[in-house]
Amino acid sequence: MFRLGSLRRHVTDELARAGIARPLLEADLLLSWVLGVDRATLFAHPERPVDQTERTDLDEALKRRIGHEPLAYIIGRAAFLGFDLTVGPGCLIPRPETELLVERALALWSDGPFLDWGTGSGAIAIALLQARPDAEGFAVEAEPSALRWAWRNLKEKDLLNRCLLIHEERLEALPLKEGSLGMIVSNPPYIPQDALSGLMEDVVRYEPHRALDGGSDGLDSYRRLLPWAEEHLRPGGFLVVEHGGAFQSGQLTAMAGVALQLVDCRRDLAGQDRVLAWKRL
Ligand SMILES: C[S@@+](CC[C@H](N)C(=O)[O-])C[C@H]1O[C@@H](n2cnc3c(N)ncnc32)[C@H](O)[C@@H]1O
Repeated sequence: MFRLGSLRRHVTDELARAGIARPLLEADLLLSWVLGVDRATLFAHPERPVDQTERTDLDEALKRRIGHEPLAYIIGRAAFLGFDLTVGPGCLIPRPETELLVERALALWSDGPFLDWGTGSGAIAIALLQARPDAEGFAVEAEPSALRWAWRNLKEKDLLNRCLLIHEERLEALPLKEGSLGMIVSNPPYIPQDALSGLMEDVVRYEPHRALDGGSDGLDSYRRLLPWAEEHLRPGGFLVVEHGGAFQSGQLTAMAGVALQLVDCRRDLAGQDRVLAWKRL
């Protein structure tokens, strides 16, 4: 028979030895998930017995995490702007920086349908739809393996009736009229190719390359998106994009066409330039 308190120490030690950054927090999240209890129970009941089945499940989850599989894939959940998303291999785990993109988009957007280009788990589209109960939009994704997570999340939150999920790689092929959109939002792949191998092992080995690889300078997706957005936004509509920092911000500002008027560039909590917004004149 195993006891919760000693297992908690064991899992924390194993994670620390594997170089996981926040071993105690992650140990608690793994234990909570395997045992189906909240974190407070872990503190309050160190004597709780853990049976053999639970121990086997815990060992399996621990082995995956020691192999640097992201915790969100193991437990199948990721938090975004106060709600939970179902995630797994094939979709990018939504990042806190992207919450800034949504906040900015909501502050600017007044009306008209939105388009979320490269929706991944559906995080951005879902946040917009939840914040605006009357809104409708489109969520586009090129990767079938990501699309199924977006579909699942939209369905779980009963939002498929307000969001058309489109499997498409080419912007030109989207069934949308010029001047029809009230807002375009995107967190496209923006990591420069030669920086990909320098990302954390969890990311490089497990998260989809297509969600990260932005071409040689990281800007390939924006080269396609900016001219298309200029044509497909209605006057007064907004384009809001996440990007990789000050260098990309400067490049993107120079790349935008004359009908896109820069609103501003916002920094994330780490002080990095992160979200650019333009208004369609
Ligand atoms: C950085 S991830 C963002 C995922 C999600 N929007 C988020 O913020 O968590 C970029 C997404 O764009 C998708 N993608 C890449 N190229 C695309 C294209 N040409 N058309 C549509 N989606 C694309 C990737 O598969 C990936 O899901």
